Amino acid sequence: MENTTQQLHSSSNRKPKTLQVSLLAVALVLLLFLASPVSSCNEEEKTSLLGFLDGLSQASALNTSWKNDTNCCLWEGVTCNEDGAVMDISLASMGLEGHISPSLGNLTGLLRLNLSGNLLSGELPPELLLSSCIVVLDVSFNKLNGEFHKLPSTQELAIKVINISSNFFTGYFPSDTLDGMKNLASLNMSNNSFTGKFPSTVCVDKPFFVVLDLSCNQFHGGIPPELGNCPVLRVLKAGQNQFSGTLPCELFNVTSLEHLSLPNNHLQGKLDPEHVVKLIKLVILDLAGNWLNGEIPDSIGQLKMLEELHLDNNNMSGELPSSLSNCSNLTTFILKGNNFHGKLTNVNFSTLPNLKFLDFRSNKFSGTVPESIYSCSNLIDLRLSYNELHGQLSSRINNLKSLRFLDMSNNSLTGDITVALMEMPMLEQAKSEQIFLATSVFPFPLYLAPFLQYRTTNGFPRTINLGYNRLTGVIPPELGDLKGLLVLNLSFNNLYGEIPESIGNLVNLQVLDLSYNNLTGAIPSTLETLHFLSKFDISNNDMEGPIPTGGQLSTFPDSSFVGNPKLCSPTLVHLCVPHCSSTNAAALPIASTEQYIDKVIFVIAFGIFFGVGVLYDQMVLSRYNWPNLVQL
Ligand SMILES: *[C@@H]1O[C@H](CO)[C@@H](O)[C@H](O)[C@H]1NC(C)=O
Ligand SMILES: *[C@@H]1O[C@H](CO)[C@@H](O)[C@H](O)[C@H]1NC(C)=O
Ligand SMILES: *[C@@H]1O[C@H](CO)[C@@H](O)[C@H](O)[C@H]1NC(C)=O
Ligand SMILES: *[C@@H]1O[C@H](CO)[C@@H](O)[C@H](O)[C@H]1NC(C)=O
Ligand SMILES: *[C@@H]1O[C@H](CO)[C@@H](O)[C@H](O)[C@H]1NC(C)=O
Ligand SMILES: *[C@@H]1O[C@H](CO)[C@@H](O)[C@H](O)[C@H]1NC(C)=O
Ligand SMILES: *[C@@H]1O[C@H](CO)[C@@H](O)[C@H](O)[C@H]1NC(C)=O
Ligand SMILES: *[C@@H]1O[C@H](CO)[C@@H](O)[C@H](O)[C@H]1NC(C)=O
Ligand SMILES: *[C@@H]1O[C@H](CO)[C@@H](O)[C@H](O)[C@H]1NC(C)=O
Ligand SMILES: *[C@@H]1O[C@H](CO)[C@@H](O)[C@H](O)[C@H]1NC(C)=O
Ligand SMILES: *[C@@H]1O[C@H](CO)[C@@H](O)[C@H](O)[C@H]1NC(C)=O
Ligand SMILES: *[C@@H]1O[C@H](CO)[C@@H](O)[C@H](O)[C@H]1NC(C)=O
Repeated sequence: MENTTQQLHSSSNRKPKTLQVSLLAVALVLLLFLASPVSSCNEEEKTSLLGFLDGLSQASALNTSWKNDTNCCLWEGVTCNEDGAVMDISLASMGLEGHISPSLGNLTGLLRLNLSGNLLSGELPPELLLSSCIVVLDVSFNKLNGEFHKLPSTQELAIKVINISSNFFTGYFPSDTLDGMKNLASLNMSNNSFTGKFPSTVCVDKPFFVVLDLSCNQFHGGIPPELGNCPVLRVLKAGQNQFSGTLPCELFNVTSLEHLSLPNNHLQGKLDPEHVVKLIKLVILDLAGNWLNGEIPDSIGQLKMLEELHLDNNNMSGELPSSLSNCSNLTTFILKGNNFHGKLTNVNFSTLPNLKFLDFRSNKFSGTVPESIYSCSNLIDLRLSYNELHGQLSSRINNLKSLRFLDMSNNSLTGDITVALMEMPMLEQAKSEQIFLATSVFPFPLYLAPFLQYRTTNGFPRTINLGYNRLTGVIPPELGDLKGLLVLNLSFNNLYGEIPESIGNLVNLQVLDLSYNNLTGAIPSTLETLHFLSKFDISNNDMEGPIPTGGQLSTFPDSSFVGNPKLCSPTLVHLCVPHCSSTNAAALPIASTEQYIDKVIFVIAFGIFFGVGVLYDQMVLSRYNWPNLVQL
């Protein structure tokens, strides 16, 4: 506008006055025309849109805006181009029900159609896939169903992005569906129920094809070798299907691949050292949950961009190649559930400073926990359980400043539990973590126990699990510093001495398992202050004296206390633990009366405890909003 005025101004110096006025008038008209907010739609376009409205259920969110007697370019979610042709329909997450009318295929200027996140059902009209103008089609997260049929061959199509993920589509995906889609860049058909083989023609004549997501379907057969013909494919996700056979070597010709995810299929064979190294741009490699065997090839060290390596739950074996030390961008390294053996010291973890998640559990690793692991100060989750590790935990463990989850159970670790363990910052923080309704989803759902399920980052339970080792010595009183701790398991070790009073400082503790040690002394009454304790086990030690009755302690079953002959129960709650002799029970004179009264008292006590317990649970649960925590 400023430009126009300036031009008019400068021209006014040279032109006669009448011309000046008429020029101004023309400019004004022109300005008015340009400034008019929307073009008006033509009748055919309106008819096509009303056809779509017709397919929706009556009470749709569009019923007030989409009126026959108004300009359809002003309708909710509709954008027209200058010629009054509908260019963009954007109606995501509007609660739309009904079906998608094929009449939308008659909109000759439609570039983008976004109907994601509604409740639309029925089939996807082939007219939309055959439209010569649509560039972006997003119907993800609906209830669309039915099969894709063979489409008549057509001229070159404009479509670049197809997102039909998270629907209920079934049947084969006909190989010619994608014919003519020379411009296709991204196809997401994940989370449906497609079956059969995936079309081998997927990459034919598709020079721009970048993203293919087939995950969570029921495709079977081999991974098509023809994928090797995709010249610029960066993302290939096909996990959670029934693909079988070996990884075709052609796949490793797709050197543009950055993200290769094929978890939870039936893939077999080995990782070929010469093949793998060709994918030099790989950032994510996920082959978990297959039937792979063989070793991790030495050449993997050349994949310097690698950030995530998931090979868990296969049948892989051998030692870790030391070249892994070269993958300095690794954040996530998951090998659990294989047959790897040898020393962890093969890898210099100090060259992997970005590591956040390390899970090697359930393998046959031996030797000691490498010192270099303690330089990974970004580690959040460290799991080495169910291996054959021995030696002591290093006093450098307090370098793991971000650690929230430590699981080294079921090894042969020895030595005094190091005090350094009690100095881990993330475990010390008393920040309460009871809000499990966080929005960000944690990459690996955790199933700690049937009754504790955490799926969110915030809900990530701060844990120390050193159970089933050969740890000796006393539990250091510094334990009380780990105020952020939610789960502590030291069971099945050779710990002796008393349970420190300071345990009462672990105000967030939910699970405490000290069973099968040689602990002595009385149960600290400070345990009564742990209001969130929902699983407690000190069975099979050598504890003595009365079981405290306050707080949560009265809610635990006998099995939490058995195997401690010197323990006694001052109440009648614990039937398998002897009553404390000095108190009331022993004073009752006649056996039969005693039994009778016992029963009466038990019934009353049970009623009170049950009632109070339930009431208390309700209060706690509602106050802290713990949807996933169910007290057994
Ligand atoms: C329009 O839809 C709303 C709900 O979205 C419903 O309450 C209303 O009755 C509908 N109106 C008509 C005329 O169907
Ligand atoms: C819209 O209105 C026009 C006349 O105003 C009418 O001819 C046409 O049938 C109407 N369309 C629908 C779908 O109701
Ligand atoms: C598309 O337009 C043609 C011609 O105007 C018409 O015959 C046909 O019924 C329309 N298709 C749909 C699905 O509305
Ligand atoms: C469609 O809309 C949803 C919700 O706004 C958005 O998340 C999605 O990215 C859109 N799809 C495309 C292809 O832009
Ligand atoms: C569907 O996929 C496209 C392309 O990847 C993406 O832009 C869009 O955001 C996706 N839609 C949703 C709802 O995520
Ligand atoms: C495909 O869509 C699903 C949602 O349906 C989404 O979770 C996934 O990230 C998408 N895939 C790609 C490669 O964007
Ligand atoms: C899979 O699709 C269903 C149906 O649309 C949806 O409810 C679910 O959230 C999707 N799952 C994922 C992981 O996207
Ligand atoms: C991989 O590509 C090379 C050339 O880039 C070619 O010679 C070779 O045959 C291809 N291998 C496969 C298995 O397609
Ligand atoms: C690690 O990642 C960063 C940022 O993503 C990148 O700039 C760097 O090149 C990567 N390092 C290597 C060795 O590739
Ligand atoms: C796993 O590999 C071992 C050899 O490393 C082999 O003996 C065993 O049969 C394999 N198991 C399965 C289920 O393939
Ligand atoms: C790491 O990479 C360098 C150069 O690429 C190489 O010389 C060295 O041998 C590699 N280290 C290991 C342990 O493979
Ligand atoms: C437990 O400790 C007592 C003495 O404190 C000792 O006599 C006993 O042998 C220990 N038992 C075990 C299994 O270590």
